[in-house]
Amino acid sequence: MPPTTNLDGNVVLITGGTSGIGRETALALADRGASVAIVGRNRERGRDVTREIDRRNGDGWAELYVADLGSQEGVRNLAAEFRNRHGRLDVLVNNAGTFRHRRTETEDGIEATFAVNHLAPFLLTHLLVDLLVESAPARIVTVTSELHERGTVDFGDLGRENEYDDMEAYAQSKLANVLFTREIAERLRGTGVTANAVNPGFVPETAFTREASLRGRLTLGLFSMLPLPFTKSVEEGAETVIMAAASPEMADVTGEYLSDGRIAESSEESRDRNVRKRLWDVSAGLVGISPEYPIR
Ligand SMILES: NC(=O)c1ccc[n+]([C@@H]2O[C@H](COP(=O)([O-])OP(=O)(O)OC[C@H]3O[C@@H](n4cnc5c(N)ncnc54)[C@H](OP(=O)(O)O)[C@@H]3O)[C@@H](O)[C@H]2O)c1
Repeated sequence: MPPTTNLDGNVVLITGGTSGIGRETALALADRGASVAIVGRNRERGRDVTREIDRRNGDGWAELYVADLGSQEGVRNLAAEFRNRHGRLDVLVNNAGTFRHRRTETEDGIEATFAVNHLAPFLLTHLLVDLLVESAPARIVTVTSELHERGTVDFGDLGRENEYDDMEAYAQSKLANVLFTREIAERLRGTGVTANAVNPGFVPETAFTREASLRGRLTLGLFSMLPLPFTKSVEEGAETVIMAAASPEMADVTGEYLSDGRIAESSEESRDRNVRKRLWDVSAGLVGISPEYPIR
């Protein structure tokens, strides 16, 4: 584990903090003194995390926000509730993610993988970006996947209405995470707020494949039988996320894709400026905000 800054007095918001990589990240950052706000739908799992943080008796402290990030109203309510309770935000970890066997639409009429994995972090970051800027130096960490390399942004059919494939929908959403990160990093240059995307590696122990197809689960099951270094424990999967969120060596790193504890090369499409600007504008339209965000 790389060294991390003491986080006393820092406020961290982690989506998907109720399970897997997000849970592990929440525990680690609370151990280092942060006040950690975790977000998930499952109140019981969330309470387990906040209780565990209390039990460990570190310097940190935790609170739970129950929200469905597949709902834009849910994201807006979450941001409003957070702002009511906190006047600062030092680290935003956009970690919550979903992998869906069947195509489903959210209450906003958007394909759920795209809504939860990309539009939710896009909108939540927008709603909290001024707090991050006021709290600078601050960090935005968005959890992507190596599978982004298999993705392409299909602007003609972002919601995969014509033909749905769970792996393609997921890969598109994880590519969108990297494109979002590179674009917001550029827009925030000079503010003291960094943004990086993290590939946690393949972590078969998490609950991640709950909603995957049998084919997806079988593929991941086979992967999980592979020896190290192909698979990671939850603790190992969280390491690069924690590094991006809290390591002093990351203080000035922005707009990067991180994997295995270092800056890595992401796919060609993820580095395409035209794609990322177009995705930004389309995303702003889908969540009903100005594409000028963040206004500096
Ligand atoms: N595991 C891997 O091999 C792997 C590999 C590459 C990337 N990743 C990425 O790592 C991130 C974390 O995944 P994980 O493996 O730790 O999986 P996990 O154990 O299933 O955790 C996913 C988290 O996201 C939350 N979440 C999912 N849908 C949500 C929604 N609609 N609203 C609010 N919260 C929601 C879940 O909370 P609730 O259930 O409480 O709602 C849970 O806390 C994801 O972004 C995933 O794409 C994972």
